[in-house]
Amino acid sequence: MLEKLRNKRVVFVGDSIGRNQWESLLCMLSSAVHNKSSIYEVNGSPITKHMGFLIFNFRDYNCTVEYYRSPFIVLQGRPPAGAPEIVRYTLRVDAMDWMSDRGKWKDADVLIFNTGHWWNNEKTIRGGAYFQVGDEVKMGMTVADAYRRSIQTLFDWLHKEVNTSKTHVIYRTYAPVHFRGGDWKTGGSCHLETLPDVMPVKSLDEWADLLQPVDDFLGSNLGSKLVGLDLLNVTRMTAQRKDGHLSVYLSPSGPVPRYKQDCSHWCLPGVPDTWNELLYALVMTRHKKMGQNASLAGTRTPNTEEGDVFS
Ligand SMILES: *[C@@H]1O[C@H](CO)[C@@H](O)[C@H](O)[C@H]1NC(C)=O
Ligand SMILES: *[C@@H]1O[C@H](CO)[C@@H](O)[C@H](O)[C@H]1NC(C)=O
Ligand SMILES: *[C@@H]1O[C@H](CO)[C@@H](O)[C@H](O)[C@H]1NC(C)=O
Ligand SMILES: *[C@@H]1O[C@H](CO)[C@@H](O)[C@H](O)[C@H]1NC(C)=O
Ligand SMILES: *[C@@H]1O[C@H](CO)[C@@H](O)[C@H](O)[C@H]1NC(C)=O
Repeated sequence: MLEKLRNKRVVFVGDSIGRNQWESLLCMLSSAVHNKSSIYEVNGSPITKHMGFLIFNFRDYNCTVEYYRSPFIVLQGRPPAGAPEIVRYTLRVDAMDWMSDRGKWKDADVLIFNTGHWWNNEKTIRGGAYFQVGDEVKMGMTVADAYRRSIQTLFDWLHKEVNTSKTHVIYRTYAPVHFRGGDWKTGGSCHLETLPDVMPVKSLDEWADLLQPVDDFLGSNLGSKLVGLDLLNVTRMTAQRKDGHLSVYLSPSGPVPRYKQDCSHWCLPGVPDTWNELLYALVMTRHKKMGQNASLAGTRTPNTEEGDVFS
């Protein structure tokens, strides 16, 4: 994979579950590099909990693997003048995160998005984050509607701004959480789960609000025009992995109290490695298609052994 990513930028954009996947990819790629000192964060930022972005360079491949924290993907900002006092900040569901420009997302070679875990009342309205369209705060807009509007904003942006012949865009679908008997704030748990569900989860209805807008978009006119877009559809397989979360093992200093456990993020090695194996397959498939197009155009294919990858 590193050979295929030579001189390229891989950019992850999303919430901390996207970061979880980014970390997994760093670990997997690093295992193929002998000199670990040749892999470093370009600004010297520590990999520990970090709010902005992190860019790891694989020096010998001139390849960067980057993560931009953007849990909503759309723009977070101060409320406009005259907004009601309960509005502490707004989510501009019709505009991309300002980091999209600063981080030059559209110039990435592989661009992987995810969102979902922050699209609930707890992390928005209850915390004073209301939704805004243009100059107007939409006090009555539901989280589900705001999320749908934001997915549209993302895909419109991809359509208008991103050259999908150059940039391989991948949308990674929602990864289910597994809090039993409550949620992350009300004592939900997963700490004694040691086995996956062997039977596939029958219905994804529980996450319909998060899945349906993406499904609808991809089935739409605009969706069918976005030829360079791949879906990394991990929802069903991930739903079976109630055993894969951190649970009480959040800290190197020992287990945390049960009421603080984490049934959203994943242990590594673990489930996100599997998402990245699928990501690897998408990258190789695209590379192979591009190679075929290049040879159709009469150019020499850069690498001939890749035809064997899926045989
Ligand atoms: C390194 O990769 C970047 C793209 O990520 C590219 O612009 C640059 O030309 C590459 N440098 C070399 C020496 O190939
Ligand atoms: C490993 O990488 C570091 C950082 O780039 C470099 O200083 C060092 O010489 C490299 N070691 C070897 C054995 O190549
Ligand atoms: C899009 O990228 C392809 C491949 O790099 C390039 O040939 C083409 O000129 C680009 N199109 C635009 C509009 O920049
Ligand atoms: C993702 O896969 C699930 C089944 O695993 C399916 O129900 C859903 O429609 C798929 N989503 C998309 C956008 O294709
Ligand atoms: C390869 O060429 C075909 C036919 O011209 C085109 O439909 C397809 O989008 C191209 N694939 C890529 C990845 O550029």
